[in-house]
Amino acid sequence: MALETKPLHPEFGVEILDIDLRRPSDAAIREIDALWVEHPVLLIRDQLLDEEQQIAFSRRLGAINIHVRTDIRSRQNPEVVLISNLRLESGENIGALASGEARWHTDSCYKPRPDTGSMLYAVEVPKGAGRTSWANTQLAWEALPEDLRARVRPLRGEFAYRIYDVDITGEEEVEAIRALTPDVVHPMVLTQPGTGRQGLYLDPLQTYGIEGMAPEESRPLLARLVEHMTSLEFVFEHEWRRGDIVLWDNARVLHRREPFDPVLPRLLKRTTVFLPPDRYPVPFAQPAG
Ligand code: SIN
Repeated sequence: MALETKPLHPEFGVEILDIDLRRPSDAAIREIDALWVEHPVLLIRDQLLDEEQQIAFSRRLGAINIHVRTDIRSRQNPEVVLISNLRLESGENIGALASGEARWHTDSCYKPRPDTGSMLYAVEVPKGAGRTSWANTQLAWEALPEDLRARVRPLRGEFAYRIYDVDITGEEEVEAIRALTPDVVHPMVLTQPGTGRQGLYLDPLQTYGIEGMAPEESRPLLARLVEHMTSLEFVFEHEWRRGDIVLWDNARVLHRREPFDPVLPRLLKRTTVFLPPDRYPVPFAQPAG
């Protein structure tokens, strides 16, 4: 039985209708995987998942990742990262990203092999606030002029863990996390197996340079590419409802979360998986130099 879908954006992304992720059949998982190969963003609404069910569902699409930061993991299940502005009595945030803007970025690109499949489940969300957007980097690549594509195609970006979490300000905390994640170099253009489609791979916050290129040359090039990648024509913006789960492929989209009023409670739970490199465009760090 084919899953029913409806488009999220004229060019990419679908909502999958009428499925209960607590008990997806093997056939449904195969279809979700096939839809994800085709579309970098999938939305499934009206889910009622506990952490174990979210983990079990995630595992069926790829090997699950455990985030390097212990302070943002669920206290019950290390596979789950909390994205929230909720605070403990001590004032400490229970998770990551609070209520400020999470600027355009792509998860886990600072790792030698990024866990590119993100799944974000909305437990509590403010109405009409804290929207998240995704920018399709394959569409952006395809719309670049050929002379610029020829210039960028052989390049490799230099990536480092950069803190964009508004709660992390201490130099010591930043250094402790960076010590766990040595800098890496990834190709700036990724090819998707099967479709052959190519897309830009760089992170506006965490790609700090281009291998072998002086900063005076790399900075304007990166800025030009980021401006192009985040043009409105490539962007889908989502207004969350409680029970939504969005799946996205970090090798094919950037994402951003708008700031919202900090008094409005917001809690989402994220799992990430290593998407299979035979169907998805997975960056593997290349030896530097
Ligand atoms: C994220 O940047 O991974 C979180 C997005 C959100 O809070 O909606």
